[in-house]
Amino acid sequence: MASNFNSVAFIYDSLAGMVFGKSIQKAQSVWLDSIPDDGKVLILGGGTGFILEELDRLELPLKVTYIEPSSAMMSRARKRLPFKFIEVDFIQDTHRAAFGMDRFDVVMTNFFLDVFTQDELGKVVQQISSLVDKDGVWLLTDFVKTGIWWQNALIKLMYLFFKVTAGLEGNRLFNFEAYLSEEGYRAVKQKYFYFGMIRSDVYKRTES
Ligand SMILES: C[S@@+](CC[C@H](N)C(=O)[O-])C[C@H]1O[C@@H](n2cnc3c(N)ncnc32)[C@H](O)[C@@H]1O
Repeated sequence: MASNFNSVAFIYDSLAGMVFGKSIQKAQSVWLDSIPDDGKVLILGGGTGFILEELDRLELPLKVTYIEPSSAMMSRARKRLPFKFIEVDFIQDTHRAAFGMDRFDVVMTNFFLDVFTQDELGKVVQQISSLVDKDGVWLLTDFVKTGIWWQNALIKLMYLFFKVTAGLEGNRLFNFEAYLSEEGYRAVKQKYFYFGMIRSDVYKRTES
């Protein structure tokens, strides 16, 4: 059974704020200057949509496709309408809804790859890769494994929380950079947040 974030949507942002302060938002916003002026942007698993307000703040005429399966998350994201500069196509569905769409200049996966199991991850990364334009960028923000005991414990606690509340099947963090590297991407920019346990990367395809 796929995960369902409906039951946590109402508390998601406050909980993230209580644990990580502003780090979650700062990390997701740090590389928004990599977005081209009139870019086509795909956001997968956007949650409550905080990132849409950040995109609007760029004052660029971006065309954004926002894909999120949870109705409660989506309804929160829609409440952020209207936007001044960006145009948003809200699609309540899983990432699979993007298959067959034209490629995007920017694909954003923030705290999204961590919902998948090891069995699913390779395929999902491959599928997302096919949605990024040849010269496009993949913006990825997520937790990283550090080996520091209290951070390991916190990650385990978060997985347990989302297993109980959202039926999350993914149960541990993977090295997402290695998966993207398999698809020919390399990080051209990286920045760490919250004692090194959150990292925000800009990935580009390497020349083949
Ligand atoms: C951990 S939350 C992150 C939300 C948001 N990106 C953020 O950073 O605040 C993961 C989100 O991915 C969504 N999700 C789960 N499986 C998905 C899928 N297959 N395709 C698209 N979104 C998915 C969930 O509903 C949830 O909103």
